[in-house]
Amino acid sequence: MLTMSREVPVVSAAPRPLRLGVLASGNGSNFAALAEAIAQGELPAQLQVLIYNNPDAFVAERAKQWQIPSVLLNHRHYPSRESFDAAIVETLKAYGVEWVVMAGWMRIATPVLLRAYPQRVINLHPSLLPSFRGLHAVEQALAAGVKITGCTVHIVTEELDSGPILAQAAVPVLPEDTPATLHARIQVQEHRILKLAISHIAAQQIQTSC
Ligand code: GAR
Repeated sequence: MLTMSREVPVVSAAPRPLRLGVLASGNGSNFAALAEAIAQGELPAQLQVLIYNNPDAFVAERAKQWQIPSVLLNHRHYPSRESFDAAIVETLKAYGVEWVVMAGWMRIATPVLLRAYPQRVINLHPSLLPSFRGLHAVEQALAAGVKITGCTVHIVTEELDSGPILAQAAVPVLPEDTPATLHARIQVQEHRILKLAISHIAAQQIQTSC
């Protein structure tokens, strides 16, 4: 006689990819580094949407190349920082974003965004925080005469460039450095530590869901 066993749910060993939304204002080399790592299977994540705020930002071209949806939200068309962030949140939610990555995002996040994604917004900054917060961090490092600078990935809090640090990399400052040459070497490290930080977040998500 044939007996039917009760169906046992199949538990997949593969973790569900982290659903990321990227905010970027300009060139987008960090966005491309993430897209490349995901395509290579190095990062258990997927890029749900790119939001950019400058109509001519090259990052929009990169999104097209990678076939990732992109949305232009121009902050100049909003009456306040809060209303701009509300539009960002609405877009992120519409695309099912779980974690927000500011990768070259030159706007200050308001509580509207941070409360919609508590402890789930990360930022990339071109200095070893807490040194050289704010704009022109590479120029600030050169002006200060430091011999080592670098980059930081951190959780975004309401205080500018101040949240808990997830990853950092040091970069030596060479005597002949200009802002452009130093920034180029920092960016090589940025691409590395941004992926590293997101891998750690993905690993923690797996642990907490077990
Ligand atoms: C990156 O170097 C990032 O650290 C910096 O903008 C650059 C964007 O490069 N962000 C900030 O200065 C934020 N305060 P990308 O567009 O090539 O990724």
